[in-house]
Amino acid sequence: MISEALKKSLTERVAGAITPREAAVDVMKELQAHYGWLTDEAVAEAASLLGLSPLQVEELATFYEMIYRRPVGKKVIHVCDSISCWCADCDGIIEHLKKRLGVELGGTTADGMYTLLPCACMGRCGDSPAMSVGGTPYGHLTPHLVDEILEKERRA
Ligand code: FES
Repeated sequence: MISEALKKSLTERVAGAITPREAAVDVMKELQAHYGWLTDEAVAEAASLLGLSPLQVEELATFYEMIYRRPVGKKVIHVCDSISCWCADCDGIIEHLKKRLGVELGGTTADGMYTLLPCACMGRCGDSPAMSVGGTPYGHLTPHLVDEILEKERRA
């Protein structure tokens, strides 16, 4: 359940949009921030706020990589596996992340800190191989740099 303040804020966001659908990503992201992931309850609340059906919200939610329909760790690692990053050995970076974190792609570390997900091009091809951790972008990755980033993000 969301607070009246959040409900009011989201209602105003939807009212200010040209169409309710335009505000859908913002609404889903806010609800995701509230619950930690987009729960079924959040989908129902988003549908109510947007004037859409839960199925329509579900369709939008599953289209966007940054909307999570399952529980995730405190910080989500999106590691790019598109063409430029692939040419820069993102496979090696992904293997390093899997070993370092002890999870497969899609998995969450035992301490609940990180969830590791592949993603499509992040628009940072010039910095490949690239990833983001909790929304912060990183590039020119090496295994050593990945280790430093994970420690820094863990403390942040
Ligand atoms: S291909 Fe990885 S950021 Fe573009």
